[in-house]
Amino acid sequence: MSDGAKERKNERTKERKSERTKERKNERTKERRNEGTKERKSEGTKNRKLNNNIMESSKYTEIEFVINGQAVRRKIRSSLLLLDLIRDELSLTGTKAGCMEGECGACTVLVDGAPVNSCLYPAVNINGRNVLTIEGLSKEDGSLDEIQEAMVNHGAVQCGFCTAGMVMRIKAFFDECRSQNITPDREMIKKAIEGNLCRCTGYVKIVDAVESLF
Ligand code: FES
Ligand code: FES
Repeated sequence: MSDGAKERKNERTKERKSERTKERKNERTKERRNEGTKERKSEGTKNRKLNNNIMESSKYTEIEFVINGQAVRRKIRSSLLLLDLIRDELSLTGTKAGCMEGECGACTVLVDGAPVNSCLYPAVNINGRNVLTIEGLSKEDGSLDEIQEAMVNHGAVQCGFCTAGMVMRIKAFFDECRSQNITPDREMIKKAIEGNLCRCTGYVKIVDAVESLF
């Protein structure tokens, strides 16, 4: 073989070697890239799962409370309204859903003795507190509480839709007057129940019933 031919052969061999080296390098780079992408992907998935778990658990809150004399512990949705807890989860359907805007008072219950519109009241706020609904008013033998009796005796219940809320509002007022030794006049009674709407009675009989309690 001539010298020239030898040189060309050597050059071609060199070229082929350097091409193979380049190819291997490129392949290794690709592999490393792929591995990096996979790792980042699986970390992203892990982080998303973790975030979802955190968000999911923050949607629920465990609360303890006493309702109508019974201690209850419950995990509830943090956004749950007291009315929905009472009616849908505790099946105490005596409390009525009226306007759902805090205007009619049909949903009134007592929290630590104070009347609240349960349609707007976050259920998480009863944690550690005492709730009284219309079901908790009647006595153990099933007989009516004195406020309920007065309402019945004075014809202050007609369709009855407002009655549970009205009675709970009157209960809060009655207890307050009793504790302060106050005998309210009709104006005070009207003022006390002004947040509770009744479409049937015209209020006179309700005021009569409350007046009869003192
Ligand atoms: S239903 Fe709550 S105020 Fe009307
Ligand atoms: S009795 Fe019917 S709304 Fe009051």
